[in-house]
Amino acid sequence: MDLAPRVPLPDLDELAALLRGRRVAVLTGAGCSTESGIPDYRGPETRRRARNPIPFRRFLDDPAARRRYWARALVGWRKFAGKAPNAGHRALAELERRGVLTGLITQNVDRLHQAAGSRDVIELHGALEEVLCLGCGTVGSRVALQERLEGLNPSWVGRRAEMAPDGDAEIDETAGFRVVDCERCDGPLKPHVVFFGEGVPKERVEAAWARVDAADVLLVVGSSLAVYSGYRFVRGAAKRGQPVAILNLGETRGDPHAAVKVEARAGDALPALARLLAE
Ligand SMILES: NC(=O)c1ccc[n+]([C@@H]2O[C@H](COP(=O)([O-])OP(=O)(O)OC[C@H]3O[C@@H](n4cnc5c(N)ncnc54)[C@H](O)[C@@H]3O)[C@@H](O)[C@H]2O)c1
Ligand SMILES: [Zn+2]
Repeated sequence: MDLAPRVPLPDLDELAALLRGRRVAVLTGAGCSTESGIPDYRGPETRRRARNPIPFRRFLDDPAARRRYWARALVGWRKFAGKAPNAGHRALAELERRGVLTGLITQNVDRLHQAAGSRDVIELHGALEEVLCLGCGTVGSRVALQERLEGLNPSWVGRRAEMAPDGDAEIDETAGFRVVDCERCDGPLKPHVVFFGEGVPKERVEAAWARVDAADVLLVVGSSLAVYSGYRFVRGAAKRGQPVAILNLGETRGDPHAAVKVEARAGDALPALARLLAE
């Protein structure tokens, strides 16, 4: 299911001219995956039903909130895990193979870039495919956890609910749901992603800066840049005179810093851009 609005593809010559012959670092966001059927947070279709993600402190301190999180995640997971990369993901992988990109920095947690063949991906916010024990620090597989969750909560398997961003589902009544803890230490488990109220680990931010530093241009694809962890790279690049290009449907917080801004669907524009850059 394609969740991005249909818009005509604008002229990409100015964008291609900026990128041609240059090394490009790419920062992606949820807008890259809407055409794969994963909703974004701040797109034209989602703004109406804005949700508040659970803050990290609440996840830690409130067992009912944690139960609600995992109940909704159990239901949301199958749909989320069944999503496939789209033409935009594939074009970025192709540009990496051709040596145009210095690599990707993504705010997405869906691993669709890797599924499309991108090799060098910095996941700023982690990945839902992994689970972290807050007690002993073990990182485990979400697929294995799903089996344990479904085993303990058979009546929840196959429940239907509207899919929400980040693998969640819209369900409110979760009393009776049984949460699963770490098999090693009984500690609480958390998806290995950066929650609202948590910072991005320092080494990850540094690796991402190195990637931006190694490039001549920073290209942003499908991000409102409302979240600081992505926005900082745009602001930083612009401050030191490194050109920034933005490909996004709708406004972004980085627009004032952009040398070129293109409003188009990533899945239409990126393959066209890859063709232009090959000419
Ligand atoms: N797929 C995912 O992994 C996913 C999904 C939702 C949210 N998140 C998390 O939530 C945060 C959201 O911030 P964000 O800036 O990435 O997303 P965002 O929702 O704030 O912004 C997405 C932007 O992409 C635009 N857009 C939507 N579809 C598009 C398309 N097909 N082509 C081009 N542009 C399109 C939207 O109009 C919007 O401006 C991130 O930190 C991320 O970790 C991840
Ligand atoms: Zn543990």
